[in-house]
Amino acid sequence: MGSFPNKKILLGVTGGIAAYKAAELARLLVSEQASVRVVMTGSAQSFVGPLTFQALTGNPVATELLDADEEASMEHIRLARWADCIVIAPATAGFIAKMRIGLADDLLSTLCLAADVPLLVAPAMNRAMWSSPATVENIRVLRERGIVLLGPGKGFQACGEQGYGRMLEPGEIVGKLDALFSRDHVMAGLSVLVTAGPTREPIDPVRYITNRSSGKMGYEVARAAARGGASVTLVSGPVCLPKPDGVVVVEIETADEMYRAVMDRVQGHDIYIGAAAVADYSVVETSERKMKKSDVAPQLLLTLTRDILANVAGLEQSPFTVGFAAETDDLEANAKQKLAAKKLDMIVANQVGGEEGGFESDNNALSIFWQGGNIEWGMASKKILAGKLIALVAERYSQWMTLPNK
Ligand code: CTP
Repeated sequence: MGSFPNKKILLGVTGGIAAYKAAELARLLVSEQASVRVVMTGSAQSFVGPLTFQALTGNPVATELLDADEEASMEHIRLARWADCIVIAPATAGFIAKMRIGLADDLLSTLCLAADVPLLVAPAMNRAMWSSPATVENIRVLRERGIVLLGPGKGFQACGEQGYGRMLEPGEIVGKLDALFSRDHVMAGLSVLVTAGPTREPIDPVRYITNRSSGKMGYEVARAAARGGASVTLVSGPVCLPKPDGVVVVEIETADEMYRAVMDRVQGHDIYIGAAAVADYSVVETSERKMKKSDVAPQLLLTLTRDILANVAGLEQSPFTVGFAAETDDLEANAKQKLAAKKLDMIVANQVGGEEGGFESDNNALSIFWQGGNIEWGMASKKILAGKLIALVAERYSQWMTLPNK
């Protein structure tokens, strides 16, 4: 059997001399049993004809954003929904610049914006263009967004120069895709329960106590676990985020509702990741009616909420339990203290309250601790960090499973 059975790969071909190699790439992908649909830019067609790709893939080649023959001209949305991943090979410096700024002026660039699937880019350009400050900056931004770079390689270029910028050989690209796709399945067969977002503790029908959690990290963690092949349930507090594809989402509001939603479901899960910023206190007596303003400021009596994480870790047959720690001071000491006190298998700590990273940001920096080990990851997008975290959790989980009392 080929390496990519049932994998739907959208191959984007942009206009560089390496476009001729994309034909061989399409052939290799098909021989590995992938379903391949090709989208070509206008300039790519100056190097290779669409018919070549049509013959190799057995599918029509799409080239136009606004095609009067296409039903309602929604080809970009249809293709974006169809694909499991998009591979751009070759990706010219110009196309990479377009991706960076989100310019959608043709079918392929529009697709890259519309698709919520992994994007893989095989750059192909002259070495001076590759090392120019603009390209270096564009590549840095694309990487931060989680776009995977395939190459470029080093060697002789069509212009007669030598250096970095050459598109990887089709066989090398297929090898890298193979490694990436199998790494993608680090959690195949596992079931993961994730919590995310803040909780809301009502005071009266219009007022509540909450915190600044956006839920972004927890949602990316759930998404990464699902991408890794796990079946994922996400218990979420109120957030303004789209639901991750392929994840069962249970919406709750209060810490108590989150506690019950987790405890009702956690049995049978292999891994629990508590990324939610659960309120530590709730209001003892909530008013059924809106409290009227009075001259005397009211005193709110608070009570401790139940610690969901500690309760999960304390179950007789507890899953591999991962906690989060948001800290403004003494990050390492506090995180290690929580790891021990709550009997966790791993804790993911991040500094909050600074200028970068933290609750509302798209970026974060993480310090992760477990019994006998730790790792630090510098500032990166939450999407990238979530992918790395899921790979690390999967690795630690398989070691944990070999412990004698498991
Ligand atoms: N947590 C939980 N239930 C609670 C409070 C927290 O499950 N009632 C979990 C969070 O989901 C997170 C971890 O505990 O994984 C750490 O939460 P944090 O608020 O940082 O720690 P606390 O133990 O509440 O300590 P402190 O607020 O003093 O830092």
